[in-house]
Amino acid sequence: MDVDWVRETLTLLLYILPAMAANGTPVVARRYYGRGHPIDCGLRFIDGRRLLGDGKTWEGFIAGMLASLITGVVIYLALLGLDLEYLYYAVLSGFGALMGDIMGSFVKRRLGIERGGRAPVLDQLDFYAGALVVLWVAGVRYNIVSVLSVGAIILMLHIATNRIAYLLGLKEVPW
Ligand code: CTP
Ligand code: MG
Repeated sequence: MDVDWVRETLTLLLYILPAMAANGTPVVARRYYGRGHPIDCGLRFIDGRRLLGDGKTWEGFIAGMLASLITGVVIYLALLGLDLEYLYYAVLSGFGALMGDIMGSFVKRRLGIERGGRAPVLDQLDFYAGALVVLWVAGVRYNIVSVLSVGAIILMLHIATNRIAYLLGLKEVPW
């Protein structure tokens, strides 16, 4: 196996793990904050539909930011040789993920898809695109091959976690 490819993909994965934590945490944390406070304050766009919808809350946003910080600290402590600067990128990665998820909902509403309605690929990768953009702007450089590799890992993790959640009875459908 090409060692450079493995190293670059694992490096990008280190930067994206806090984004994955930020993206996944609201789904679990909502048990504790209930419906929460919608980020769009219930406002509607010129098309008459909600700006973002009830699925994007401040509580989820804060929980996601905390999750990215905690994930960053754990990875920083677990791996020797990481610069303290990594924590800053971990939080930025989480922020990008939450922003990407918000943009994904904005796009879904404009397409007429209700909150919680399915939008394949967009649903799974909006947070990843957001994290990639914010990290790039912050100066993190990565190549297309590692972007595609980590993207494939994220899609496979989604399929696997959904199946497990279904088998455990946490979800109605296996996708
Ligand atoms: N969530 C939240 N705040 C966020 C993101 C997510 O409270 N910023 C919670 C909501 O309870 C949401 C759940 O996590 O329903 C799952 O997130 P997601 O699948 O992104 O939202 P959807 O409900 O599917 O809404 P949308 O159609 O807008 O994606
Ligand atoms: Mg959803």
